[in-house]
Amino acid sequence: PASRPLAGKHVLVTAGPTREPIDPVRFLSNHSSGKQGYAIAGALAALGARVTLVSGPTALAPPPGVDRVDVETALEMEAACNAALPCDVAVCVAAVADWRVAAAGQKLKKQDGEMPSLTLIENPDILAGLAQRQTGRPQLVIGFAAETHEVLDYAVAKRARKGCDWIVANDVTGEAMGGARNQVHLVTATGVESWPELPKADVAARLALRIAENLTGSPNP
Ligand code: C5P
Repeated sequence: PASRPLAGKHVLVTAGPTREPIDPVRFLSNHSSGKQGYAIAGALAALGARVTLVSGPTALAPPPGVDRVDVETALEMEAACNAALPCDVAVCVAAVADWRVAAAGQKLKKQDGEMPSLTLIENPDILAGLAQRQTGRPQLVIGFAAETHEVLDYAVAKRARKGCDWIVANDVTGEAMGGARNQVHLVTATGVESWPELPKADVAARLALRIAENLTGSPNP
């Protein structure tokens, strides 16, 4: 029915930060609140999709009708995403830490005059991994780009580099990170749509409708 255009579809959403251990009591992370990703998961479920939300640590309750899988590190997030396949659509909203600490062993100790140094290694790019799968690639793979300047140029380049279908780009110099509203540009193969500044729930609802339209080939007013 028109009100549940995503019935029968499975959508994977990643959200929140990841947390990369330095030692048993410390970690590297970022300020992602998870709000935009959770709102997208909820909007997709409201359109009838089965939604798997792979989430880093957040203060949020899972939206109604969403199956949440809790993870901490980027490696755990990647494994949980692979375990959730197959899916029809993947929406990668998580702020995955780019690096993890190479050898996160025992608790670091203060030593006279000596500073510990951390060796970082690159985390897997979960979005690029999903977008470039040889088999079982989701039909529609969507990434986010949070930039502080030249948002559109970077978003267009990011879409090509990651191999995803759409990039939702936003300027994070304002209140987007942790805030309640968001102004985004949707970068697709055919061009760029700039949406007005909206509450994150409205960005989510609009994106969910665009996803439904793309999958079913019919516009959903
Ligand atoms: O390269 P950058 O981090 O700017 O790309 C952001 C997009 O890529 C987001 O959709 C984010 O969820 C995804 N990403 C990912 N795994 C990473 C880094 C980013 O899925 N390791």
